[in-house]
Amino acid sequence: MSVLIKGGRIITATDDYVGDVFIENETISLIGESLDVTADKVIEASGKYVLPGAIDPHTHIELPFGGTVTCDDFTSGTVSAAFGGTTSLVDFCFQMPGQTFAEALETWHEKIERCKPVIDVGFHMAITDLKEGGTLEDLAKVPDEGVTSYKLFMAYKGAVMVDDETLFKSMEVASETGALVMVHAENGDAIDIIVKRALAEGKTEPKWHALTRPPETEGEATNRAIQLARVAGAPLYVVHVSCKESTEPIALARQKGWQIWGETCTQYFFVDLSKIVDAPGFEGAKYVYTPPPRAKENLDHLWECVAKDVLSAVSTDHCPFNWDGQKTLGKDDFSKIPNGGPGIENRLHMLHHFGVRQGRISLNRMVELTSTNVAKLFGLYPRKGTIAAGTDGDVVVWDPEKALTISAKTHHSNVDYNLFEGTEVEGAPEVVLVRGQVIVEDDELVAQPGAGQFIRRARFGEQLAPVAKALA
Ligand code: URP
Ligand code: ZN
Ligand code: ZN
Repeated sequence: MSVLIKGGRIITATDDYVGDVFIENETISLIGESLDVTADKVIEASGKYVLPGAIDPHTHIELPFGGTVTCDDFTSGTVSAAFGGTTSLVDFCFQMPGQTFAEALETWHEKIERCKPVIDVGFHMAITDLKEGGTLEDLAKVPDEGVTSYKLFMAYKGAVMVDDETLFKSMEVASETGALVMVHAENGDAIDIIVKRALAEGKTEPKWHALTRPPETEGEATNRAIQLARVAGAPLYVVHVSCKESTEPIALARQKGWQIWGETCTQYFFVDLSKIVDAPGFEGAKYVYTPPPRAKENLDHLWECVAKDVLSAVSTDHCPFNWDGQKTLGKDDFSKIPNGGPGIENRLHMLHHFGVRQGRISLNRMVELTSTNVAKLFGLYPRKGTIAAGTDGDVVVWDPEKALTISAKTHHSNVDYNLFEGTEVEGAPEVVLVRGQVIVEDDELVAQPGAGQFIRRARFGEQLAPVAKALA
């Protein structure tokens, strides 16, 4: 199968030019002006952007969490991602209490076998326990499986939180094995005390989720993780950064040239504390995710941080729980509301409309934040994350004028609400290709589950070799 994308504006992290892209055998084989080639399918892209497929490095698909399971499986979650122009994701494989890392990986592989993805999928290893099931020796073997990042939670006490000993030992293993350490940075001990006190005072509504997790607890944990990573000699990626208290230590570390990167998520640019505090009844439960929505001044601050490369990636932290039936587990107690919000489909819609069209970031920077930097940090580059000869044919033909009203009624996730409900944007994918296969075209899914594959990622700092077919 070969595809010719004709006359589009090709945008990478560094380039912006008009040309043709020819994809054969899953791989971009030629780029040029008015290519004289015959293709099985021709896509006219004049007036459209030709973007490298976006990569979401932070999702929670079919995850048992907070007493329930996220409501997208790898088919529905990846279909939703594809409709937003995301062609690869990296999901968190959780080591459940007592499980070995090998057992955890087996469980996640079983999930993508049972509910096959339509886009490419990789895994991070979420380390929850080095005492019962997981050993340091086994942790060192995880990158051999193409899983080259370890995630640790410094919050969620009594569930998946690890102590500093586990965090530090894992960082030391990462520095030896070439894995990237990822942290959820919040001081879980302090938050646990504040939450229990609030509940004892009868404060049970959803807004108390946000009000019991002060930004300083995120700042403290971010700084602690940075300093420990420094001692361990491990590269560190701080996930879902939400506030100034956390961006400040990241900015300082980056100024010093340390191997520290930060990510924020779409929702932190748009949803502020008032959304949960002012929500009527149990509506606020929709915004119970962690870290919580922050005071309004953080929104502009985060835009500045992504523009200035204090933060280097934008993910979704897609962790979908239905409002009706799942969020309601915490009807009488905010601490029982499963933590997480949806968003896998709307990252590019929102960043393009409010970021690029409104002049907050350039088109090149949008590509860098959602694709190129993610590919480089997570061992997918240069096979993914750019448009060049020899790379995977993961391409989004993006119509910058296409109007869309974001809504749970029309999104493709199983979840029953959308964080950006009713938002009108201009700019959406027209065609989405994964390794040269058309997945979405003119708002229709045209691929079958199984079009996506498991991706074995390279170790931190190493490059993922182009597929053999591309070299032949
Ligand atoms: O609330 C969130 N973010 N849920 C997903 C788990 C995590 O903390 O990333
Ligand atoms: Zn987290
Ligand atoms: Zn998450």
